[in-house]
Amino acid sequence: MINNEHKTSIKKGLFISFEGGEGVGKSTQIKLLKKFLSKKNYKVISTREPGGTNEGEYIRKFLVSGDKNAWDSYSEALIFNALRREHINKLINPAIQNSEIILCDRYVDSTIVYQGLVGKIDEQKLFYLHDTYCYGLYPDLTLFLHLNPTIGLDRTNKRNNKNENRFEKLGLDYHQKILDGFNILYKKHPKRIVKIDASENKEIISDNINYHVSELLNIND
Ligand code: TYD
Repeated sequence: MINNEHKTSIKKGLFISFEGGEGVGKSTQIKLLKKFLSKKNYKVISTREPGGTNEGEYIRKFLVSGDKNAWDSYSEALIFNALRREHINKLINPAIQNSEIILCDRYVDSTIVYQGLVGKIDEQKLFYLHDTYCYGLYPDLTLFLHLNPTIGLDRTNKRNNKNENRFEKLGLDYHQKILDGFNILYKKHPKRIVKIDASENKEIISDNINYHVSELLNIND
């Protein structure tokens, strides 16, 4: 969680997750933030879920492609947690120990929203899974990119990668529920989760993100 230690220097790494619906621009913003922080001489790594490890990237394709009803929510929740545990063991925790900044495209909040609030799994069961098998590791900061799902889906439909569209195929009503879910989580965790208006142009969004991250790192210029 947000820790005053980060206000002066990074004694241990900083863990930042990016969340939101489909096509909100997370990967673009991760690249821009990585550039901003690297210029300031921070050690930064970017990663993603599902994925992040060789095994995770391999299994990812079974989760994000194929029939929209291929998995039920419980199976998905178990797999996402198994991959997350590997991700923490092999990449996230070593980077934290090495005082790096980790920028992660989706993390536990995606499970709470997609499999929990929308997939109808009781949140408490998902917190139990996270706390028991994923060390209860939460990000220091979560940037929730907020965008009307009509715009987000329109963007993803124009993308080249038509293989990774299992969740996109679930339709607008589903994705409106996803947005509502992230809004609920944001209201519950206003200190950890910062809501970013992702309908602005990418430079404005990036400035806004840099501002919040700079505050956490006590970067003044
Ligand atoms: P991805 O292509 O990364 O989506 P996007 O580019 O919009 O971020 O696909 C990941 C999909 O996996 C996304 O639709 C959300 C879903 N997901 C879950 O349902 N639960 C989870 O815990 C995670 C990490 C992702």
